[in-house]
Amino acid sequence: MITTVRTNQLSRLPLAFDHQATTPCAAEVVEAMAPYWSEEWGNPSSRQHRLGLTASAAVKLARRQIAEALAVTPQRLVFTSGATEANNLALLGHARALGSCHLISVTTEHHAVLDPLKQLQREGFSITLLSPGHDGLISPKQLEKTITSETRLVSVMAANNEIGVLQPLAALASVCRDHGITFHSDAAQAFGHIPLEPDATGVDLLSLSAHKLYGPKGIGALVIRDEIALQPLQWGGGQEAGLRAGTLPTALIVGFATAVQLAMAGRESRQQRLAALRDQLWADLKRQIPGVQMNGALAPRLPHNLNISLPGVNGSRLHRALRPHLACSSGSACSNGAPSHVLQALGRTRPEAEASLRLSLGRDTSVDDIQQAVIVIGDAVAAAKH
Ligand SMILES: Cc1ncc(COP(=O)(O)O)c(C=O)c1O
Repeated sequence: MITTVRTNQLSRLPLAFDHQATTPCAAEVVEAMAPYWSEEWGNPSSRQHRLGLTASAAVKLARRQIAEALAVTPQRLVFTSGATEANNLALLGHARALGSCHLISVTTEHHAVLDPLKQLQREGFSITLLSPGHDGLISPKQLEKTITSETRLVSVMAANNEIGVLQPLAALASVCRDHGITFHSDAAQAFGHIPLEPDATGVDLLSLSAHKLYGPKGIGALVIRDEIALQPLQWGGGQEAGLRAGTLPTALIVGFATAVQLAMAGRESRQQRLAALRDQLWADLKRQIPGVQMNGALAPRLPHNLNISLPGVNGSRLHRALRPHLACSSGSACSNGAPSHVLQALGRTRPEAEASLRLSLGRDTSVDDIQQAVIVIGDAVAAAKH
């Protein structure tokens, strides 16, 4: 029973509700990577000896496994250090290859999209950012109205990292296709969690990250449709068809592929379980804390995300009270503590954005964790009321 446990009686603390910031490496991922740190230490580009060939074969297999999960050919994957680099390569690389043009994105994108766009603006490109509705979503009509004869590239994330809402990618891609515009999507938060096939959706450039799906940090990929022109961001040994020079990190790539395979296996049942837990969390929070508000549409939304605002509560006192008991976030892990630009874009005031919590569930989250989180949050809210 929820009411029989109080904050000072909790067991597994702090409760982990920050799985959208990152996830632990799955045990199978650690195991699969292990040989490539030491005994199989070859450079995958060294083709003259067994060590290099073994590493090269491991990368080849991993590339195929990830490509299969996305229903694309392996050659279309360029490994990067993560989604940040994939976004930079997609946006800077494609825009620079095209030359002077207009780009469209959304105010609620991750900084890993917004900041490369700012750089492009400094380089003379013209940028328009669409404002989503209170539900966090943009519409194909809204996109269509913003397109000009100069528009060449549109970037819209698949799943929001703070409020978890899923943008209508296929409909947005179809608008882009009708106008001959390249469509990029940052799918760091979506890949491995919801069905995602770039060709079926109409996405020309897709950014991925391993550490959001129980893979290692420091590896990701950009999936590129064949005819898309890209200028590399760095030059060197010509790896990745000259698009991303630098020695490939065999262990990380093998870990990424293992994580992808694990994520695909049983994804549907896992997501159903997490959605049910998330819905329970929301229902219990509403019961416990009058006035609690949800940020973004409940659907369509990632099953493991809930984002709430707590009106009348002091944000910094709330987070201080929660810190020993619950690991969660008030926004993106990459926002340097600034109040969430996403919540403010949805119309939340700065104090409301500060008194907000992103609660993201993971594979191990249990009913007990949910019940304990409700108590902890209820107690913290009571302690942080204005
Ligand atoms: C939507 C989104 N894009 C990009 C990133 C950055 O990914 P990476 O850490 O792989 O560079 C993140 C991670 O927080 C994210 O949530």
